[in-house]
Amino acid sequence: MKRLNDNVVIITGAASGMGRAMALLFSKQGAKVVASDINEESLSKVVKEIQDEGNQAIGIVCNVAKQEDVEHLIDQAIESFGKLDILVNNAGIMDNFLPAHEVDNDTWNRVFAVNTNSVMYSMRKAIPIFMKQGKGVILNIASAAGVVGARAGMAYTASKHAVVGMTKNAAFMYAKEGVRINAILPGGINTNIGTTMTNPSHFGYGKTMPGMELNPRFGESEEIARAALYLVSDEASFVNGALLAVDGGWMAY
Ligand SMILES: NC(=O)c1ccc[n+]([C@@H]2O[C@H](COP(=O)([O-])OP(=O)(O)OC[C@H]3O[C@@H](n4cnc5c(N)ncnc54)[C@H](O)[C@@H]3O)[C@@H](O)[C@H]2O)c1
Repeated sequence: MKRLNDNVVIITGAASGMGRAMALLFSKQGAKVVASDINEESLSKVVKEIQDEGNQAIGIVCNVAKQEDVEHLIDQAIESFGKLDILVNNAGIMDNFLPAHEVDNDTWNRVFAVNTNSVMYSMRKAIPIFMKQGKGVILNIASAAGVVGARAGMAYTASKHAVVGMTKNAAFMYAKEGVRINAILPGGINTNIGTTMTNPSHFGYGKTMPGMELNPRFGESEEIARAALYLVSDEASFVNGALLAVDGGWMAY
């Protein structure tokens, strides 16, 4: 028995890293995957990979920083597959490890637009749909930086703390409406997110280094995808408002 049979799943940032791994794994588990990303070329490769395996996926280009793109994504998913069961807010970018005294408005606003506002836009749009059907699951990919202080710069850390706050607030608010909302806090994972760091702050990067050296190891995207599969499936029916660290023990120190 496949674990996500006939579930319609939206995954943002699905062209790379953890989003791609979730799209591949969820489709193997019977989900109809609505893969979305700002990078059209890489997105179409992931969709083709899924379809070549005989599984179901469509690709929708979406800049999650734009409210209209996010709303269009959810409308298109429902138009294509008739419903929405699971929403995974995964797209995210880094912040060049900028500490408070170096952070510029552009970085702050961009990081919040992609990492935080996007999650609010999609939750605001999806939750009424889930309330109407009495069922729905949201998984937010936050970060270890969503609960501790110095795994990144100030903008990234604050943006992920906000995602943790939204997860817990909404999980309680809509629990009786049948909506489950959880977050994964990945540790260091081998993905392409480093490409969003163009000019890391010497000061900020240096301050995070002692903590980085405590990381037992880097993880792989597939290790996040397997934890995500559990949280979005009915096996996690009583798991709501949880923050699951998937970090090889890094935060346990
Ligand atoms: N890699 C890590 O060590 C790590 C650790 C903790 C949390 N995270 C979080 O995990 C999530 C996934 O990141 P990843 O490491 O797989 O990175 P990644 O760069 O490999 O993948 C992220 C994807 O998001 C897409 N994206 C970026 N901006 C977008 C936008 N505005 N609209 C739509 N798509 C956009 C990118 O094109 C890319 O395909 C992010 O939210 C990130 O903050 C990553």
